[in-house]
Amino acid sequence: MSHKPDDKIFEEISNYWSAELNNEVYFKGKDANIERGSKEYFDHIIKNREKYVYYFERFTKYLSHEKKSEEQPKLLEIGCGMGVDLIRLSRLNYRCYGIDLADNHIELAKKLFQIHNRDAVIQKGNAEKLDFPDEYFDAVYSAGVIHHTQTPQNAIDEIYRVMKPGGKGCMMLYAKYSLNNLVHALLQKPFENPRGDNKISRDAHFVYRYSKSDIYRMFKKFKSVKVEREYLYGAGWGRIYDLTPRFAYRLLSKIVGWHLLIFFKK
Ligand SMILES: C[S@@+](CC[C@H](N)C(=O)[O-])C[C@H]1O[C@@H](n2cnc3c(N)ncnc32)[C@H](O)[C@@H]1O
Repeated sequence: MSHKPDDKIFEEISNYWSAELNNEVYFKGKDANIERGSKEYFDHIIKNREKYVYYFERFTKYLSHEKKSEEQPKLLEIGCGMGVDLIRLSRLNYRCYGIDLADNHIELAKKLFQIHNRDAVIQKGNAEKLDFPDEYFDAVYSAGVIHHTQTPQNAIDEIYRVMKPGGKGCMMLYAKYSLNNLVHALLQKPFENPRGDNKISRDAHFVYRYSKSDIYRMFKKFKSVKVEREYLYGAGWGRIYDLTPRFAYRLLSKIVGWHLLIFFKK
């Protein structure tokens, strides 16, 4: 079943993300001594994601379901990374599947499921060429992934293909104009620049950003699509995050937030 990307660019993306464990942004100071892959390591990351990626509960609410048939519904996470969202989605009573290009991320995700004694199909795979039959999944989830692949539209077309008619999905992609990007540009602090923009960049190979109308165009095959904004800034802003009044943070997130939340149905 496992799909091995044969294209050189996907091998490079895979190596990049195997070395770049994005959730380790939450470790600093004394936390840095926590052993990678331990229960404490995952608990620490999940606790921080609950704080900073506060909108995740909107995804779980949207993806929750009432069991209608004997067969357990299936959910696929594309770019599951180390599985910290998938483990929480597994509480929704789906049969869970997770794919990612990066070997180290996949290994960690398997470990996390082992620690929690939960079952899931976790394997290496490419979002642009999914190794699953047509109309296989009841739900699809993907956060912060498709904007890092070579041709995002291929991944969205693949999602459409593997989803059952009536199936639903959620995705997070970066917004084109956001306070976060503006501040980084003004301070001339390099931040998530695609490789092509800067030969010495150590950031991901591809970093696309979208307007809401881009999203509606990319998802035009779907029966319904709704896009919202959240996430003004996160852990990288240190004390500023904690000092910002919550109502101001939430309000500004809706206008100039960095994350586009996409809710769709086939
Ligand atoms: C920023 S991380 C996000 C991981 C996870 N969703 C999270 O929120 O922690 C981006 C992930 O996308 C994966 N990725 C990038 N391109 C991919 C592709 N074409 N197919 C599958 N995974 C891909 C990377 O390996 C990496 O784990």
